[in-house]
Amino acid sequence: MSKILSAETKAIIKSTAPALQMHGVAITTRMYERLFENAEVKALFDQAAQESGEQPRRLAAAILAYAQNIDKLENLTGAVSRMVARHVETGVRREHYPYVAEALLPAIRDVLGEAATDEVLAAWGEAYWALAELLISMEEAEYLETT
Ligand code: HEM
Repeated sequence: MSKILSAETKAIIKSTAPALQMHGVAITTRMYERLFENAEVKALFDQAAQESGEQPRRLAAAILAYAQNIDKLENLTGAVSRMVARHVETGVRREHYPYVAEALLPAIRDVLGEAATDEVLAAWGEAYWALAELLISMEEAEYLETT
């Protein structure tokens, strides 16, 4: 992983796994509502997968798997490769990642309410960018190869 997360951050992330299991789809559904206020970002997504609820479910599962495996990321190698492949197919770029961060963190707050303390949101902000940096670097390597 490109950025090292502290043991404390990892412990906070792991402690949020049960809440994510319960509310993951609600969080990602809310996240997409926020994200799609941006028309350029919305156009990247296959709307059929959105409407069937498929895409929020995939993203919720990915976030939950990340929380559960935050200290054994080698378990996520296959899942990360699939995300990278899908992102490259749909033209996701580095500059899109802040939009997802800005939609995801408030969505966690919207759904978890007071349970999403400042500490929890700060830990998720750090963890999001650690994963994002990994995806971005793998995606940039793929774009270089294919263009
Ligand atoms: C850390 C951040 C992110 C994670 C964890 C993530 C995760 C995922 C996952 C799990 C999938 C489904 C892969 C599959 O089909 O098996 C996916 C697909 C996709 N992601 Fe991401 N993603 C992230 C960031 C982004 C960003 C920044 C964008 C662009 C704004 C984006 C746009 C897409 C699109 C367009 C698809 C294909 C969806 C479709 O089939 O319609 N993702 N992502």
